Amino acid sequence: MKRVAILISGGGSNMIALARSMEGDHPARPVLVLSNDPAAPGLDRAAALGIPVAAVDHRPFKGDRSAFEAALVKKLDAAAPDVICLAGFMRILTAGFTGRYAGRMLNIHPSLLPKYPGLQTHQRALDAGDAEAGCTVHEVTSVLDDGPILGQARVPILAGDDAESLAARVLVQEHALYPAVLRRYVSGDRTPVLL
Ligand code: GAR
Repeated sequence: MKRVAILISGGGSNMIALARSMEGDHPARPVLVLSNDPAAPGLDRAAALGIPVAAVDHRPFKGDRSAFEAALVKKLDAAAPDVICLAGFMRILTAGFTGRYAGRMLNIHPSLLPKYPGLQTHQRALDAGDAEAGCTVHEVTSVLDDGPILGQARVPILAGDDAESLAARVLVQEHALYPAVLRRYVSGDRTPVLL
């Protein structure tokens, strides 16, 4: 069985989708849900599923990213994960951290990368007059929202969409895409999943 750690910052709906997918004949199991916010609602949701949870509050580190990451590494490595999934984890990571887990850390991003790395992805797609939006799962490298693409799901932009309505429809696709990519990835197949 492959061991999967999931990093979250908020509600953790992608984390739930991933965790629920890892059962039966799935070749992986969730071994840790870790948050930078001790109050992240996703932590309680993970605990309710019986997954070990932990938090490292980034705030006391006052911008010392390396020290914060050293504390994260301690928690992560204690769980001995084979794969780490960033799932709405909203901290920028240093090259030291991404390098440590190179080739075994995934991220989901709510845009069709390489379009719109960073924040406000849905508003930016709307402002650009795009006909479609979507989400991407990619391997994490030292460059923010970059790295080999492992899957994408496309979502049409509808007349009358605002950032909120679009985000809600993209999120539904995120919940389908991320588990599909993870299953393939832990089986050793890096062919992109296209939904
Ligand atoms: C998701 O839409 C995810 O793609 C996005 O945050 C949301 C987390 O929701 N991630 C990023 O923007 C990363 N830069 P969730 O906590 O319900 O999974």
